[in-house]
Amino acid sequence: MSKTIIVSNRLPVKISRGDSRLEFSPSEGGLATGLGSIYKEQGNIWIGWPGMVVEEDIKGFVSEKLKELNLVPVFLTEEDITGYYEGFSNEVLWPVFHYISTYARFDLDKWESYKNVNQKFAQIISQYIEPGDTVWVHDYQLLLLPNIIREQFPEVSIAFFQHIPFPSQELFRMIPWRKELLSGILGADLVGFHTYDDVRHFISAATQLLDLHIDGSIIRMDERAIAVEPFPMGIDSRKFSELSESNNVKEIENRIKSSYKNQRILLSIDRLDYSKGIIQRLEAYHQFLEDNSEYHEKVVLFMIVVPSRDNVLEYQRLKDEVDRLVGNINSQHGKYDWTPVAYFYNSFPIEYLSALYNIADVCLVTSMRDGMNLVCKEYIASRNDNTGVLILSEMAGASKELNDALIINPNNLHEVKDALVEALNMPEEEMRDRMSTMRELIFKYNIDHWVKIYMARLSELIEIKTSMK
Ligand code: UDP
Ligand code: G6P
Repeated sequence: MSKTIIVSNRLPVKISRGDSRLEFSPSEGGLATGLGSIYKEQGNIWIGWPGMVVEEDIKGFVSEKLKELNLVPVFLTEEDITGYYEGFSNEVLWPVFHYISTYARFDLDKWESYKNVNQKFAQIISQYIEPGDTVWVHDYQLLLLPNIIREQFPEVSIAFFQHIPFPSQELFRMIPWRKELLSGILGADLVGFHTYDDVRHFISAATQLLDLHIDGSIIRMDERAIAVEPFPMGIDSRKFSELSESNNVKEIENRIKSSYKNQRILLSIDRLDYSKGIIQRLEAYHQFLEDNSEYHEKVVLFMIVVPSRDNVLEYQRLKDEVDRLVGNINSQHGKYDWTPVAYFYNSFPIEYLSALYNIADVCLVTSMRDGMNLVCKEYIASRNDNTGVLILSEMAGASKELNDALIINPNNLHEVKDALVEALNMPEEEMRDRMSTMRELIFKYNIDHWVKIYMARLSELIEIKTSMK
């Protein structure tokens, strides 16, 4: 039977060195958590990096362990991690694609490393491809891969999905290797993004920079037709809804609640990333406390920040800035029995996240740019009683679907501050109306639906291709 080979930089399981042995734990980030619950179906496999440098003598052991989970490792060296992962992926593509091009460091060595590692992935994939298989490549770390596979296996079906925004072509064109990147992606039969804006930007970059012809959503290149379309990603809503009811989660909830008696909980959960607007959120919360003393001792901003890419300079700088701002707010407004920001720089198990989603009166998402943002969808899926208010940045892909959130511009501190007041005072009926509408959407357009329509569209395109031969 034919299978789908999912390929992404990061596997849904990461390895780390514990006290005396290797530890295997779930990876963070929307790609890994989103696809993690469905990839194993029908003998599919997932190829990617297990998150650390693995010594030669234990590679066999690691591969065997991962094989039990249908996972295949791509082992990266220290140099690969510095040049391809931290360097080109996260110091060039990530900032430019999130509209912060001033953070980008264009450097030929990083580009060379990016090309080498994309080849390394292709080499592993070639060991697993069988006739009839589909290769589904994910995200910005592997933009060259679709075309490398196409050259080696001209007949294979290839899909590509990008989980982060595709910027306006005026920004994209700044990248010295822009044509190679576009040609790399266009090796696929189907190219997907979260939103229509991303699709538009990609098409305009491809047509202007590569001088290609476009017909509706189809780009024509070398006698091939490539469809470029939006597929807003969903989550495993049922999993979050069911988790909310579990005894284990209820116990965690009670423990947390007992530490925050009589306080309304504002929740934020993100990786430490400048794209998430953590600084802007803290500034708005600070202003909210300055202007609304009646909320002192009655609210807490429960802020989970998951460590991410901590060897990259801008992430280290951001960490210092977040620490400083949290310190300022807590020292200025805190009391001996009230800490305005409960700040945790750590990653948490899903049961703990579920408990927080359940007890949070408000979920606050202030991304400066975000491909989709799954945290807000997880919050909605967890709210089985239809309560809770979502404040959502208009710069997150999710804002295109979740019209019943309080939509804010994260650069407008006053708007965010006012949204906090509105959320805390929202009449119950309005809150339930908004939440139930958003829940309907989250359950209907869940992760299974997303995979189904993506794969159905790919099959349709392959059928057309075959019938034209
Ligand atoms: N997450 C996690 N552990 C944590 C905090 C968050 O696994 O301690 C997950 C969270 O549940 C969500 C993902 O990380 O599924 C974040 O995805 P999102 O799309 O919001 O942002 P990304 O990190 O992909 O930019
Ligand atoms: C975002 C990206 C993913 C990435 C994740 C975590 O969700 O779209 O590709 O895996 O962030 O980042 P990391 O660098 O730790 O893999």
